Amino acid sequence: MTLVKVCSVDELTPGEALRVELAEVDVAIVQVADEFFAIEDVCSHADFPLSDGGVKGCTIECDLHGSRFDLRSGKPLGPPATAPVPTYAVTVTDGHVYIELEN
Ligand code: FES
Repeated sequence: MTLVKVCSVDELTPGEALRVELAEVDVAIVQVADEFFAIEDVCSHADFPLSDGGVKGCTIECDLHGSRFDLRSGKPLGPPATAPVPTYAVTVTDGHVYIELEN
């Protein structure tokens, strides 16, 4: 497991997704109140960036066809997507946001 710094807390607007392009994967970072989530920034339905969509509670909606995903689990909550999107554990230290990536 590797901790990778993705952004600072100051770069985030609560309730909006921030796209971060890493060498390994593109992720959408979302702050909801005092919780932070990281989800791969690719819809499982048709490879569309989830960060373009809206955040509502602990979910993010794909802007292309409207599937909504649970930010905690990555599971789709409605069609047309049926497959989950990978999520990543988030740690916040000294104002910086880190995610855990598999080695
Ligand atoms: S590309 Fe996301 S729901 Fe179709």
